[in-house]
Amino acid sequence: MSHPTFPSHVTLVDVGPRDGLQNEAQPVEAADKIELVHRLQAAGLREIEVTSYVSPKWVPQMADNAQIMAGIQRQPGVRYSVLTPNMKGFEGALASRADEVVIFAAASEAFSQRNINCSIAESIERFRPVAEAAKAHGMKVRAAVSCALGCPYQGEVSLDAVEDVVQRLLDIGSDHIGIADTIGVGTAGRVTAVMERALKHVPLAELSGHFHDTYGQALTNIYSSLALGIHTFDTSIAGLGGCPYAKGATGNVATEDVVYLLHGLGINTGIDLDALVDAGAFVSSVLGRKPVSRVSNALLAKRTQA
Ligand code: HMG
Ligand code: MG
Repeated sequence: MSHPTFPSHVTLVDVGPRDGLQNEAQPVEAADKIELVHRLQAAGLREIEVTSYVSPKWVPQMADNAQIMAGIQRQPGVRYSVLTPNMKGFEGALASRADEVVIFAAASEAFSQRNINCSIAESIERFRPVAEAAKAHGMKVRAAVSCALGCPYQGEVSLDAVEDVVQRLLDIGSDHIGIADTIGVGTAGRVTAVMERALKHVPLAELSGHFHDTYGQALTNIYSSLALGIHTFDTSIAGLGGCPYAKGATGNVATEDVVYLLHGLGINTGIDLDALVDAGAFVSSVLGRKPVSRVSNALLAKRTQA
């Protein structure tokens, strides 16, 4: 049996502090969010999505964005990104000296309306000046295509719809495209088809997967992306999160689970799994629950037995 050739190194972007914590109803102290970022970089993460500059009325948990960005001790070689839905958000990102901004457009009209209160076409026009301003300031622009594998409101999303949004995001100057399974419904074959469409337009090095794990498919979806040579994934420490506008969706696949998979495949990540498990245990204890990571819980149980 022939095996696919996997990449030798994979970059993980921990989006837990943003995509994870944005969905927490309980208040989380700024000091704990800052500590989480410090623990992630100490564990070897080189890309961290720290917070978002969105309306505090829509997402109250991210209202402390400037405080978090000012409070983190930056480590050379680590890229700190923030989510920006419009120019107001970009101004916050610029003032906080973010390295990268994340913009996001949905492949589904219904989701675009619920998430950011405008159509897909309008959202692209809102992001155009954000992308231009980011580039003018030497910041990288990462763009997410939400609902690329399915939508909580309209159900199926066509490959053409995904390809169209990918093209539009590239047209406005995005440097990187993330294919996002916002509600975690995608399965491996469909992920391969979506990624192959995206690869018609996006270079391998600038395409990533952002898989929520609602249906438990994220690891297989990553595996099928790896088989295409894709080597960047968004993951969330301790499996934190969900999406405030996608009811029932769980967090992104846990960083711990993905690191375990990758190391098992002999793929280098630069991440120390033990330190990562500590980071996940830390944020989980802040939130008063166990990590949503099989690997983390297994390793924590093993430690108590030792
Ligand atoms: P809107 O109400 O249509 O906007 O919201 P508006 O321009 O009419 O402004 C309304 C109020 O919001 C005004 O304040 C603005 O100043 C303020 P008021 O005059 O009422 O006091 N405002 C802002 N405040 C702070 N920062 C800003 C900002 N912009 C306007 N940037 C808006 C439009 C986009 C702002 C709103 O819909 C919003 O913030 N939505 C939140 C979207 C969000 O954070 N969603 C979750 C993240 S996306 C995600 O998780 C998906 C992803 O992970 C990939 C995947 O999994 O699919 C990336
Ligand atoms: Mg997400």
